[in-house]
Amino acid sequence: MSRAATRGRLAPPVASPPALPSAETVAGLYDRSLDVLAALRRRGQMEVENYPTRRYSITRAAAMVGRTPTAIREAEKDGRLAGVERMVNGRRVGYTLHEVNAMRDVFSTRPWREPGDPPAVIAVQNFKGGVGKSTVSVHLAQYLAGRGYRVCLIDCDSQGSSTSMFGVIPDLDVQEDETLYPFIRNAEMSSLAYAVKPTQWDGLYLVPANLRLYSAEYELAARVARSEPTLLNRIAEGIASIVDHFDVIILDPPPALGTISLSVMRAANALLVPIPPTIVDFTSTTSFFAMLHETMGVLAERGYPVDLRWIRMLITRADEGKSIQREITGLMRTVFGDTMLRTVLKDSAEIDNASARMMTVYDLDGPVTSRETYNRCLTQLNGVNGEVETLIRLTWPSQAARLRAEGVL
Ligand SMILES: Nc1ncnc2c1ncn2[C@@H]1O[C@H](COP(=O)(O)OP(=O)(O)OP(=O)(O)O)[C@@H](O)[C@H]1O
Ligand SMILES: [Mg+2]
Repeated sequence: MSRAATRGRLAPPVASPPALPSAETVAGLYDRSLDVLAALRRRGQMEVENYPTRRYSITRAAAMVGRTPTAIREAEKDGRLAGVERMVNGRRVGYTLHEVNAMRDVFSTRPWREPGDPPAVIAVQNFKGGVGKSTVSVHLAQYLAGRGYRVCLIDCDSQGSSTSMFGVIPDLDVQEDETLYPFIRNAEMSSLAYAVKPTQWDGLYLVPANLRLYSAEYELAARVARSEPTLLNRIAEGIASIVDHFDVIILDPPPALGTISLSVMRAANALLVPIPPTIVDFTSTTSFFAMLHETMGVLAERGYPVDLRWIRMLITRADEGKSIQREITGLMRTVFGDTMLRTVLKDSAEIDNASARMMTVYDLDGPVTSRETYNRCLTQLNGVNGEVETLIRLTWPSQAARLRAEGVL
């Protein structure tokens, strides 16, 4: 359609245009949005203090620990393990992850890295928005914690999506001085420990984010450009200050190539790239790889080489009903081969429903939709996370022999 024709369809000018929203109106909208979020969380009974604690049956706990239910019962009887709470009918109420981890300690089945093994610092990164970075980050962090690893998830995005999946409302429950922000801007701070908070998952810690982290983006850009390129190393330094306590650090960056994303790249030693199998997302991801290459060069020039032990692409949000998506997935497999994870994370109502409750699929004990949908989603999540777990263990010399024994190598 020509411009003239388009113009011809416009309505005639009105006598007085509607009043523009004032700054106060916008501030009011922000305050009311926080009220809505708080009400939604109450509705889902997700107040942080009464967040549901998952419990595992003795059979499940035994599988998690790597021993038999009989071995657990015997250890409880002879006092090596504290007896578990029982219901009126005498049945065990189920074990919390904290209790499962206590069993792992007693049976020496913790999967922790040895001091000589490098900690895994995984960035779940793609500059494209909405591809599932935060969803993948939190489910991976909880899966690994469930397996008994010591995990820290660092929310590097001022949107605080990962933070909110722990039932925490970033702009209501988190203070600026509890985030990465003070550490990033104050070069004299030596430890990030102040921001590391325990979560409902035993062994999983969170560095939360809120909107103030956005200021770091501007401040950092100006200072790095002016005279302080060393600030690009701040996230790496923050991680170095806490990493002795962890096996795995997971970084959830914002969807943009800003200074925080650069700092995340610099800090990471592994990269997981979620990509929905659509033309638009794939096109952006192609640009992401081009920028990644360029950025790695720039960082290296500044004395901050990026040292990645592995890169994997992960198909997310796939809709198997769409033939074009199946085609793109197939094509990517042919072209990228082993650089892609085998498991595909499909679009699932279970993930949608869990995130609407400010939770994850792993937090929920059972299905929100149907048993079939839930099981399918769980199988995919466990498949993806299990593949990442193997990649992590492959980088640990102490585990190589065990992996060989398991037939992985
Ligand atoms: N496999 C999935 N099935 C259903 N919904 C999903 C899935 N993955 C992500 N989502 C939903 O898509 C939305 C965006 O996901 P998410 O926040 O994880 O993406 P992101 O890449 O972190 O976004 P941003 O770029 O804004 O940080 C969320 O509402 C999330 O619940
Ligand atoms: Mg996100």
